[in-house]
Amino acid sequence: MRSPSLAARWWPTAATVRRLRLASGLMLFTFVLTHLLNHALGLVSLAAMEAGRRLFLALWRHPLGTLALYGALLLHLGLALWALYQRRRLRMPWGEALQLGCGLLIPLLLTTHVVGTRLAHAWFEVNDTYAYVVAALWLARPDLGVQQALVLLLAWVHGSTGLYFWLRLKPWHARLAPLLFAAALLVPVLALLGFVQAGRELAIRARDPAWVQAMLREARAPQAAARQQLNRARQIIPAAFGLAVALTLGARGVRQRRERRRGTVEITYPGGRRVVVPLGFSVLEASRQAGIAHASVCGGRGRCSTCRVRVTHGAQALPPPSPAEQRVLARLGVPATVRLACQLRPRQALGVVPLLPPEVSPRAGVASPRYAAGEERELAVLFADLRGFTRLAEPKLPYDVVFFLNRYFAAIGEAVRGTGGLVNQFTGDGVMALFGIEQGEAEGCRQALRAASAMLRSLEALSQTLAEELPAPLRMGIGVHSGPAVVGRMGYAEATYLTAVGDTVHVASRLEELTKTYDCPLILSERVAQQAQLEVAAYPCHEIAVRNREEPLRIYVIYDVHALAARLVGRDPGMPER
Ligand code: FES
Repeated sequence: MRSPSLAARWWPTAATVRRLRLASGLMLFTFVLTHLLNHALGLVSLAAMEAGRRLFLALWRHPLGTLALYGALLLHLGLALWALYQRRRLRMPWGEALQLGCGLLIPLLLTTHVVGTRLAHAWFEVNDTYAYVVAALWLARPDLGVQQALVLLLAWVHGSTGLYFWLRLKPWHARLAPLLFAAALLVPVLALLGFVQAGRELAIRARDPAWVQAMLREARAPQAAARQQLNRARQIIPAAFGLAVALTLGARGVRQRRERRRGTVEITYPGGRRVVVPLGFSVLEASRQAGIAHASVCGGRGRCSTCRVRVTHGAQALPPPSPAEQRVLARLGVPATVRLACQLRPRQALGVVPLLPPEVSPRAGVASPRYAAGEERELAVLFADLRGFTRLAEPKLPYDVVFFLNRYFAAIGEAVRGTGGLVNQFTGDGVMALFGIEQGEAEGCRQALRAASAMLRSLEALSQTLAEELPAPLRMGIGVHSGPAVVGRMGYAEATYLTAVGDTVHVASRLEELTKTYDCPLILSERVAQQAQLEVAAYPCHEIAVRNREEPLRIYVIYDVHALAARLVGRDPGMPER
């Protein structure tokens, strides 16, 4: 086997590039955030803005701050050009296009401001006070003021979009999203209002020529020769950036021509659709080139796993996954035929089936346990049903029915969660819950029996709260069975959740139905009693026929659920009852 070349060994991996982009982006975002918050102080006064600026400069004009800021800027720009070079197709979802467009426009629009402040300070010791800068943008060149406001918004949108792409894969993102969204709106609005307020205050002060003279003296405004040099810099910087972009696009063109000469590869999609792309394209790029909608929540960065495909043929000739791709695939626990479309660059013909719908939610990419991809587990399943609900709901207004059901589901959901279970489905007035997915069947059975008791207590409490509106106390029937079931995330789009299927689930549902026949609150199977290590010989026992099972199933009818659950309390899990 050939060892990798020196360049390949030293060239950063895709994961390192991603980390560098994130770190430099966060540094720049922090700068923009502190800058905007400083602007917002204009809502207080020019003096407050100036006081804030002193803190701002202490951070960002300190040699270390300068190194961090401009190092991050150069790195981020370099990585953006590298990403542009690597893109096989310029067709992309709108979010990515917005991100790229803002990223390319910001350096061009920002040059005038940076040259007039930072460079003027570095070269000619100009003291770029807020009064001096706002006077230039509000009074002398309002067109530049508008441009500056625009670039401020672009920088904020660019940074916030990048942050969103990163954070939306975090499990807690959905919870904090409203707060983050409010902050993303508030910060630029307050900054712009601060700038406008400062402009107005300054316009009043500028009526006094002595104040203007003093302000210019304090700012040490550049003389004609210095202004000429700064103007030259204002022309050179955008030209250099434009040249870098043009060179990147040119290099990209050369690489594409070379790749086309190296050959093409054919990718077959479901329905027999064939797409031919040059060697070097990823499967995701092939989908985009052909206009095939393909989920890619992280924009092809190999982080979300939503682009994953099952390779139907040609798997044996595929390049092995990189360590970064391997990590994501291992987290999902998928078979070797599943690959990330954004990382897979086939060298020979292959067939693929995208595994997630194109409009998949970011939650599908959130780190999830192995079994979420589908696994057989031994666990306990509980079904519960409210007795006489139809009769109860008939005389009520629709609003009252929804209100009542939500109170009921909240009470039951809390009881299940409080005992370690997972509420899986609310259907009509019925509930299905799973126990022991991670802790195992024995602990799951104990949890389910405790949950049955807690659910009945919650129902008693709800009956008391709603006593005046109910013709009689609420009653429910609960069935608990345990055994093997296939567990995994199932469903479509937003209605995808972790659930279980199989005979164990059917039997648990059947036991719940039998509670009507025996007029009892709980029926459990013999297996549940054994797993929970409960002595149940004293309880009424019946045998029922069950589909797919030759032997009859022994079940126990429980009338005093609390007494049964009390025998579980405090017991060391796994220790037999004495
Ligand atoms: S698009 Fe996110 S991992 Fe491929």
